Amino acid sequence: MKKIRKAIIPAAGLGTRFLPATKTVPKEMLTIVDAPIIFYVVEEAVKSGIEDIVLIAGRGKHAIEDFFDTSYELEDRLLKDGKTEILERLENIRNMANIISIRQKQALGLGHAVWCGKKIIGNEPFAVLLGDEITVKTQQQISLTQQLVDGFAQTGRSSLGVLNVEDSLVSKYGIAEVSNSTPKFIIGSNQERFSYYNASKLLEKPKASETNSRWAITGRYVLTAKIFEILENQKPTKNNEIQLTDALDQLISLEGIDVYPSNSLRYDAGDKIGYLQANIEFALRNPELNEELKNYVIKLAQSLTKGTFS
Ligand code: UTP
Repeated sequence: MKKIRKAIIPAAGLGTRFLPATKTVPKEMLTIVDAPIIFYVVEEAVKSGIEDIVLIAGRGKHAIEDFFDTSYELEDRLLKDGKTEILERLENIRNMANIISIRQKQALGLGHAVWCGKKIIGNEPFAVLLGDEITVKTQQQISLTQQLVDGFAQTGRSSLGVLNVEDSLVSKYGIAEVSNSTPKFIIGSNQERFSYYNASKLLEKPKASETNSRWAITGRYVLTAKIFEILENQKPTKNNEIQLTDALDQLISLEGIDVYPSNSLRYDAGDKIGYLQANIEFALRNPELNEELKNYVIKLAQSLTKGTFS
């Protein structure tokens, strides 16, 4: 059984879609209800059995580090005030995982960010979870990262998670083409059965007319250390950035990559609309906020339909 113990979480992008907020605050620290985006990403990794997290950070590195560290003054105050519930929550966050942070001095692209984790990861296979993307499993389903980790335990091959998208969204994503029309199956660690395909080609944001595939690559991967060798020599392409997708495309011909479809909900929290959707939907799933927010949303929807909102 090949266990995935480490994960890289890239969180050093410039976050230009979220300026001016991201001038000083990394977008991964923007809040979804009452915790930063990165909290939900780390939580998914930890729940999938990851023990060590290599955080790739840029500007605002300390804000992320501090979030997962002890705050003596604050915790002392909460203890004195008898606020045990929130104190316990802060303790849980601090004990979630062993987090090692590395600085990506220049935002040279996602491929470069992953390569920055090489020294800590070494020769082991590892997971990658993009720090600005939140995935939420639907009921009877395991998380996307858990799916990839379970898959690797059985196949030993690199993999990536995909979601089915409509034609109009194809050009917004990396798209995975697959070579087998019928899927293969795996029984996961909690006996859940899920399917996978073999990737034949990865395309970065193609037009819908340029591919028959509708499998959009999500920000969840499990990779062998071979990817570091490829990234070492990777040249910048689209947007003058070292793209992870280019390196993955080469990995297909060297070792193969498997593609795992998922029904998880995915929020691109680095994008304004995705971020707002995540906030509304997370708050609606929160028992403390659900009732009040639901009433507000219904009223708002009514005034939007009537055209009385201004
Ligand atoms: P994005 O492309 O969404 O991040 O990268 P970005 O470049 O910050 O976004 P915009 O377009 O300017 O708003 C996906 C993930 O990879 C990280 C980002 O922090 C994000 O979590 N990333 C990207 C790095 O860590 N380093 C990079 O050089 C680029």
